[in-house]
Order: sequence, then C-alpha cells, then structure tokens
Amino acid sequence: MVLYAICALSKGWSRSSAGRAIANTWLLTQAAVDITRRRDERRPVIQAIRRMLMALLLTIALFGANKGQADFPDEQARATEGQMTDDERFAMIISFHGSIGGLNGVRDKRIPADVSMSAGYTPGVPRLGVPALHMSDASLGITNPGYRPDDKGATALPASIAVGASFNPRLARDGGAMIGREARIRGFNVMLAGGINLARDVRNGRNFEYYSEDPYLTAVLGAEAVNGIQGEGVISTLKHYTLNCNETNRHWLDAIIDPAALRESDLLAFQIAIERSQPGSIMSAYNKINGEYAGGSNHLLNEVLKGVWGYKGWVMSDWGAVPQWDFALAGLDQESGAQLDMMMWKVEPFTGPLRKAYAEGKLPKERLSDMVRRILRSIYAVGIDKWPPAPNVDMAKHNAVALEIARQGIVLLKNEGDLLPLAADKPLKIAVIGGYAQLGVPTGTGSSAVLPVGGYAIPIGGPAIVEDLRNLFLLPSSPLAELRKLLPKAKIEFDPGQTPAQAVWLAERSDLVIAFGIRVEGEGYDLADLSLPGRQDAVIEAVAAANPNTIVVLETGNPSSMPWRDRVKAIVQAWYPGQAGGQAIAEVLTGRVNPSGRMPITFPVDLAQTPRPTLPGLGASWGTPITIHYDEGAEVGYRWYAKQNLKPMYAFGYGLSYTTFEYTDLNVSGGDTVTVTFKVINTGKVTGADVPQLYLTEAPNEKRIRLLGFERVELKPGESRQVRLEPADSRLLARFDGKAGQWQIAAGTHRIALGKSARDLVLTGSVDLAGRLFRK
Ligand code: BGC
Repeated sequence: MVLYAICALSKGWSRSSAGRAIANTWLLTQAAVDITRRRDERRPVIQAIRRMLMALLLTIALFGANKGQADFPDEQARATEGQMTDDERFAMIISFHGSIGGLNGVRDKRIPADVSMSAGYTPGVPRLGVPALHMSDASLGITNPGYRPDDKGATALPASIAVGASFNPRLARDGGAMIGREARIRGFNVMLAGGINLARDVRNGRNFEYYSEDPYLTAVLGAEAVNGIQGEGVISTLKHYTLNCNETNRHWLDAIIDPAALRESDLLAFQIAIERSQPGSIMSAYNKINGEYAGGSNHLLNEVLKGVWGYKGWVMSDWGAVPQWDFALAGLDQESGAQLDMMMWKVEPFTGPLRKAYAEGKLPKERLSDMVRRILRSIYAVGIDKWPPAPNVDMAKHNAVALEIARQGIVLLKNEGDLLPLAADKPLKIAVIGGYAQLGVPTGTGSSAVLPVGGYAIPIGGPAIVEDLRNLFLLPSSPLAELRKLLPKAKIEFDPGQTPAQAVWLAERSDLVIAFGIRVEGEGYDLADLSLPGRQDAVIEAVAAANPNTIVVLETGNPSSMPWRDRVKAIVQAWYPGQAGGQAIAEVLTGRVNPSGRMPITFPVDLAQTPRPTLPGLGASWGTPITIHYDEGAEVGYRWYAKQNLKPMYAFGYGLSYTTFEYTDLNVSGGDTVTVTFKVINTGKVTGADVPQLYLTEAPNEKRIRLLGFERVELKPGESRQVRLEPADSRLLARFDGKAGQWQIAAGTHRIALGKSARDLVLTGSVDLAGRLFRK
C-alpha cells in the first residue's frame, strides 16, 4: 500500500495543484485504513500500525504536495528534455504560422496536412508524449482570420478595455474560462492572450486590447484572465513584454524610458500579473526599449524576468519580431511564426542560423536545453500533455459572459437632469442616429478580432484585418433592435447619420435623440487625432442643436475629442462591447442595468494635455525608424494629470450611476503596508454597484498618486457594506531605485484617500509606514 502510494505520488498526479495532491493521497490513505480496519478492528498492534501508516502517508502527501507544486514540472521537463535529440530540440523552439491561402497563399509544408491551421504550430515529440503546440489569438475570444474554413465562429467578447472599466476581476476570469473552453474544443492548447501593455498614449491603436493605464488594475485583471484560461488546461501568454504602447511602425519603434520608471509601471504590471497567474509563456514585444529589441534584451529577459522575478515558463517572440539568432542568448526561448521573420527580415533566425551557431559553439548546449525545458515545463505545469475529454461548450452561457462584461464595462459619463434611464412606459418619439446602430456594434481590428457565429453584420471589404487593410467590422447585435424590444411603447426611428442636415430632420421631430459615435481602431496603426471619423462630430453637433435631449453613445477603444460635450445631455462610453453589445447598451439606456463601469483610462480635454501632444512618426511610411520618448516615465495616465495639475475631461476611475453612494468610517492601519476598512452605503433609490478606490496621495517628502486597491460593491437601496481592502502591494507604496536595484518604501507618514475617481477623493487618512528596502 505504502509502495503504491509512493509510486502514485511520483508519477504525476500532482501536475498542477497541491490541493489535488493532498486529496488524492487522502484517498489512498483512506483505502489503506479501510483494508487494515477490515482485517481486524480489535487488535491493538494492528491499530498502532494503522496509525503509523496514516502518519507516514500524510507526511508523504504533504511532502509530495509541495514537491508536486514546486518541482514536478521542472523535473519532468528535465527528464523529457534529456531524452530528446537535437533535431527534436530545435523543432520545439520555433512555431510556424498556419495559412490556407493566407500568407503568400501557400500552405507551409512544415505543417503536416492533417494539422488544423492556427497562428502558430510547433510539432510535438510523440515518442515522449509531448504534444504539438497549437496556438491561437486569444484575449477577446478565439480568432480565425481565415485560417480554418470549417470554423463557424466563436464567442466575441467585449474589448479588454471594457473589462478594465468593469473593475471586476471575476469577469476577467469568466472571460478567460470561456476562452479556455472554446480553445479546447478546437484543439488549441496555447492562447496568445493576456495583453497587458499600459494605455500610455490615447492614440494607440491597440489600447482596446489592453485593460487600463494603471499597472495594478491591469495586472489583477490580466492575471485573472490567464487564470481562467489556464484553469481550463490551456496555456496562456501575457504579452507584449514590454512598452509596445504605440503601433506606428512598431517593428522599428525605439521606446525610450528611464529603466527605473519602467520597473514601477509597465514592468510592474507584468511582475504582479506573473505572480498571480503563472502564465505558461510571455510574448516579447515588437519594439526596442532603450535601443534594444524587446526579444533580444538580456536585461529585460535574462536579468529581470528570469533572474530577479524567477520566471520559469518560456518567452516566445511576437510574430515577425526576430531579426537575429542571438536573441536566444539574450533569453528568447522560441521564435514565433517563423515565416513572418522571413518576410520581415529575410531570415528565419531559429532555423538555419541558430543551428549554425550551435555547431560553432556559439549557442551553448545548456542554453538550448534550457529553452526546451522551459516550454516543456509549462506543458506539464498547465497539463496540456494530458487533456481530459473536451468540455461541453454551451454557447448561450458564453453569450451571457459576453453580455455581462459589456453591461459592467459601460461607463455613464454624463447624465444632466437625469435624462437617463429612459422610461419604458412612455410613448416617446426617439431618434436613433448613426453608428450603424441598425446593424450592430463595431469591434477593434487586428489579430484579436473574433469572427462571431453567423459572421459579421457587414463584411465590408473582405477578411483582411491588420494594418493598411483595415475595415469596419460590425458584430450583429443591433442597439436599435434591442431598444425597440425594451421600449415597446416608444416610436423609434433611425437615420444613418450620413449628413448633419438630414439627421436634423429626424432629431427635430423626436422627443429625444440617441446618437451613436463609432471609430475603427486596431493593430498596426495609431490614431491621428481623437475626432470621430467622417462627419460624425458634425452630425452630433447638429442634432444636439436641433434637440436639447440628446444622448451620445460612443463605441471606441480610446477617448474622443467630444467637441459637442457641453451641448448634449448624456454621454455613454460603451467601448467595443462585443457580440451582445447592442443588448447591453439598450439595457443601460433603459435602466434595466444600472451602469457601474469606471474609467480605466483618463480622457484628456485634448491632446495638448497628454505627455506627447505630437506623436513622433505618425504617418511615416512603413519601415521608417521611430523614436518615442516616454518621458512621463512611471507617471502614466492619472498620475501624469495629477503631477501636471491638469483637469482632464474625465478622470481615471470616474463613472456615474442611477443611484448614489456614500463612504463612511474609514480606518487605516500601517506597519509594513497599508490596510483600510470603510463602509459604503447606497443612498439612492435603485440597486447599483460602486467601485470605491483607494489611492496613495502623498509619501514622505513627495506628493504622488497611485491606486492601491479597489472593490466593486453591489448594494440595494439603503444597504451598506463594510469593505476591507487587502493590504496594498508593497511595490505600489515604493519607488524603484535603479542604481541599487531595489524597491524602497520611505519611512514616515503616508497620506491615503478613498475616492470615487483619481480626482474625486472623498475620505482621507494617514498612516505611518516602516521604511524598507526590498529587491523583488
Ligand atoms: C500580434 C500578437 C499576436 C500575433 C499572432 C501579432 O501581430 O502583435 O499580439 O498574438 O500577431 O497572431
């Protein structure tokens, strides 16, 4: 029995969790006890043996649990790698981009005929039980940009920036789990998810794929998305490591920043997210950081990620981001989509050149083994080598996940005279104008774009989705149709909003106007300015002049300039709200859902307020080297506005509700870090959710603002709740000393505030902290 238990313990049951290990061993222990009990209940010697046996087994269990969690994947990876040939090793450190009529229109022969197309394919080693890697994008649902003709579509979640606006980690996890399940049924075992770059620049085409401008909020949500995916047995990345905060000519972009400031901001988001979710892989970014490509940065990969942070998974490149084989020496473990490197740099560095370097002794054997072991380790740690039967996927439930994220992500920015919510029992005459609201809601474009079940509402211009081939993609969830469902007594008419003069006709004969403003944003390019394309701003301006009861719904991934802001009564920021977005918008407008989203990024009054009124390189032709100085350093977003003493248009953390909330009884305790308790009360007339936010506002000798914690609290009218915000992550209270390579919390009084946004600080307190230095 004991032998059986030891064998079982050493064989691999402990693949992913100590809890499972203990549970399994407990079962074995019980079996042993049952057998001895059956033999003879009365004999004291047997009872003593039984007790010893139990003690022994429990010791093994606890030892095995710790061992299983900490070392097992490493040991298994080491054992497997030791049995591999060099050919097998080299095959594992590269992935090929799958294409049917895609890149060059030719299927790459290195992808076997029976392998389904994907963003990346790496062969397995069947004789050693190592599965092939099948990779797909990812963060907003399973994509299929023309690779798999038999794939009829997946659940299209709202943009990650909407998850950011929900301030709700549980939703991020639900979205991740949904993605994991839809990946499983397609055979994808690696998700290129977890986009956690900070929204540093309001023109960045990919901000919709990221969560926020704040490292902590971003990290918490990104980590939960990864936990959701990996909880379904699918590896997830966190990406793009790091500072890929603008898209223009990203392959030639040199992002300049003070290294210490980077540790306090973009890298801190990665560090916290990695600690909270143990992603199987990290995808390095396209750009350079301080003159060195992200994928070839010894400092960022070997020293920080794998060294100081002790990251054990593998680093894959972004697609077409590896010009040289010696990135392998700097810490890159896998070249992704190798054919894209051939297109970009006329070389596939990890095939021929890396093998040559190996033969010449320039790539040490130990490094090659390490690259392979890191991949194997994640395979074993997440368990993609032993998939249980595919899960049942209930698309209706997945639609409900998309709907809930959209609902909680919508931010009510303005609601003068409580024009919203719209009363369902009145025979209102409503004008719905623009934004293709009769057809659906837009999505961001690029590698994250998800083809929904049933296809896009209007596939203008074909399937191309990246860079110069950008198009408008509408998910077929029509706000107009949904409004008609929820307001059966109203007379709702639609005008496409093509010209101001025409839109005014309908506005004038209506009781109120709901005008939609949309903008396509996406991968590979940045916005020239914050206006709404075409004549949308002029249309809104005109209808607002014609009808004082104008509501604007914005479907964008970034702020817009809103020149008409003072002349409309209500503004709703709906982001790219996903496949159930039309329904969520209608529910918020009619009060079925009380808006609870909060701004995950600051909306500036204009670009002049931002750190870079002019963005270097905008409009430069493909291939032009660009240098962007991120001189704001760690003072990203709301921290920049506070430091410059600027009042933005809408602050980080801001968002209205149809009810009101009050905070009382703030208690703060110090020591090593800050912990607070306080009470939130719903003082209004309807149920709603609030997101109280805790900020550091001053450290000894330094005024600086920093989000330390938050919690989404749902309350009925009159209800109150005591909230305790978990002890703040020490790094949020510290500054990083680049020379010493250490975090430093200054000893002394720190001021904190509980707020409704980064600018609306309601209760304040102060706390004494012990000074401290720490490395990680
Ligand atoms: C994007 C990545 C994506 C990859 C594979 C790249 O262009 O930057 O985010 O995962 O393509 O599709």
